[in-house]
Order: sequence, then structure tokens, then C-alpha cells
Amino acid sequence: AQSIRLAVIPGDFIGPEVTAEALKVLEAVAPAHDVKIEPNSYDLGAERYLATGEVLPDSVLAELRDHDVILLGAVGGRPGDPNLPSGILERGLLLRLRFEFDHYVNLRPSRSFPGVPTPLASDAPIDFVVVREGTEGLYVGNGGTVRKGTPHELATEVSINTAFGVERVVRDAFARARARRGKLTLVHKTNVLVHAGGVWARVVAEVAPEFPEVEVDYLHVDAATIFLVTEPERFDVIVTDNLFGDILTDLAAAVTGGIGLAASGNVNPDRTAPSMFEPVHGSAPGIAGQGKADPTAAILSAALLLEHLGEPAAARRIEEAATADIAARAGAPARTTTEIGDAIAARVTA
Ligand code: NAD
Ligand code: IPM
Ligand code: MN
Repeated sequence: AQSIRLAVIPGDFIGPEVTAEALKVLEAVAPAHDVKIEPNSYDLGAERYLATGEVLPDSVLAELRDHDVILLGAVGGRPGDPNLPSGILERGLLLRLRFEFDHYVNLRPSRSFPGVPTPLASDAPIDFVVVREGTEGLYVGNGGTVRKGTPHELATEVSINTAFGVERVVRDAFARARARRGKLTLVHKTNVLVHAGGVWARVVAEVAPEFPEVEVDYLHVDAATIFLVTEPERFDVIVTDNLFGDILTDLAAAVTGGIGLAASGNVNPDRTAPSMFEPVHGSAPGIAGQGKADPTAAILSAALLLEHLGEPAAARRIEEAATADIAARAGAPARTTTEIGDAIAARVTA
């Protein structure tokens, strides 16, 4: 039995729509597994920023830290909206949480779902997980602009890769590969990014002897995009840097049934701060307010959350319910966000 102090950050546009369904399913599954959900909602996001100028006050950060885990919807505005410049919420809220809470393992599983059409040639079952580094790389904001707005403008973004940061995520990926099918693929671009690529390749080679059961493979990121489409069943665990992982996981979502199904966890494996679970997708302003958002990715993120907190049976229950719901969609009329959430909640209690 456990009580879960859950911070919920619904966020913007479809964020609140899908988060409400994920919370509904969490609350539905909890009693049978002797789990109690104690949610606290935080109104961080575009509205609060536009009304107050606040993105993530230090006092709120401290409150969030005092939870077991965080469930996030999505943040961010319509790309190009002059009132909400791109990056304010993404960097100031989402990335700040990942950095402050040391979410160095950004876990993004991909699998095929029975009955879901994909753009792939083969229907071989897909089941891999991308272990995306979450605290370094091009995301740290180590850059600058000079002579802005002039023809001589110069902009830099420098990727940060520390041996410490690479080693800890690589070790986590090896351990996951050992517990799965024993295959680890490093994805990078070592033929061009020789400095960053050098440390990634060296660390993988150094750690490999500690995991003799794990077979190690390497792909340049451009070639990895080919195989993700032509032969995705070859992957078990992919370990990669922050930006490559971002791009590969949208692609992985698209080839396995769509962005509406892709779940993720921002995990702090050392448990020095709460981990945070969220769908891979963004706030999708174009479909907000119409009941069109698929809440399945958020619901499956809630399953990852339960797994992280040591409730694998409850997590399986959600995954099975979502998988059954997905399979039942073929040929059936489209449902609203709430209808899908209700159906999955009903299945977990059935
Ligand atoms: P997006 O993921 O929001 O949307 C991409 C496409 O996928 C759109 O066509 C959208 O309608 C569709 N889509 C997304 N989620 C869906 C769902 N659950 N069901 C059905 N269709 C869905 O990406 P974007 O358009 O590049 O970004 C929109 C905003 O979200 C931007 O402000 C961006 O910065 C932000 N963003 C936030 C997060 C996050 O909070 N984790 C992640 C990605 C993007
Ligand atoms: C994601 C998003 C974020 C990322 C953005 C919104 C900062 O695209 O979670 O995949 O790039 O990590
Ligand atoms: Mn992304």
C-alpha cells in the first residue's frame, strides 16, 4: 500500500485535456492495487505567464520537489505567436524541471500495437526503448548571439557532453538492455561531431565489458532514421543524446501508430528528486478545445509513473487496458478525448 503525492502540471492547449484523462485512469486503477493518489494541481503554463510574467517561481519549484512524482501534460504556445515567444515555457518550465530534478534518463518506449495501422512495410513486432540523455547536449542553452539583426549576426549553440553525464546514462541504458533482449545501439554522429561523439563512443566502449551479455551496435543518426522505418524490429535499447533522442522519438511514435500513443518518463534514477511523466507530444494548439486529442499517450505515461513507483501490477493493468482500447479502434467511429479516457478507465476497473 502506498500514498502517492502527485504533482499535476496540466499546462497548455491539449495538455489539460489529456492530463484529466490520465488522472481519471490513475484514480480508477488505484484502489484495487491498494494505492492512494493525492494529486495537487499546478497552474503553470501560458495563462499564468501571460497574466503574471511567472514561468516557474522558486517557491513552486520547492513545492514540486516535495512530491513523489510529477505528471505533466504539455506546455507551449502556437509556433510563431508573438505574445508567447517560443522557448519561454519550453526552456523556463519544462527544461528547467528536467535540469533541476536531474532527469538524466529520458525514457521513451516504442512498441507496435495490435490492430493499429502503421506506415511500415513489415508488420514484425516492434519493441524498443530510447534512452535519451535529458540534462546535457544542445539543450543546456550554452550559446549566444552577437550583432543581432544585422547581416553579420552570429549565433552559437554549443553542445555540452560531460564524461560524468554520458557515463551515467550509458550505464542505465546497458542495465535496461541486460534486463530486456540484450542489445544496445548507440546513435550519434561520430563521423562529424568528433568531440561529442568521441566521448559517447569511448564511454560505451569502456562500460561494455561490465555487461558481457549485452551486444553493442552503433549507428550514425541519419542511418538510424532509415532503420527506424525499414527495420524497426532490430532495435532493443537505443542510447543517444538529448537532441537526437528528441527527433528519433517523434519518428518512432509516427512509425508505431502515431504521436497520440507515445509515452515518456523523465527519470531521476538516483531518486534525489521527483521524476516526471508526460506524453512525448506537445500542446497541439491546432486541435485544442475540440475533443480531438488522443489521451492514450498521457494515460500510458501514467503507467510508466506507476512502474517507476514500484507498482508494476497497476502499471500492467493500464497498459493492457490501453492496448485493448487501441485494438478496438479499428473500423470504429472516432471518439472524443473524454470518451477514450472513460473507456480505458472502465477497462482498468472491469
Ligand atoms: P505537437 O506534438 O504539439 O503537435 C504535432 C502534431 O501532432 C500536430 O498535428 C498535433 O495536432 C498532433 N498531435 C499532438 N498530440 C496529439 C494527440 N494527443 N492526439 C492527436 N494529435 C496530436 O508539436 P508542435 O506542433 O511542434 O508543438 C506545439 C507546441 O507544443 C509548441 O509550443 C511546442 O514547443 C510545444 N511542445 C511541448 C512539449 C512538451 O510540453 N512536452 C513537447 C513538444 C512540443
Ligand atoms: C519533447 C519536447 C521538448 C524537447 C521541448 C518542448 C523542449 O519536444 O519533450 O520531446 O525537445 O525535449
Ligand atoms: Mn519532442
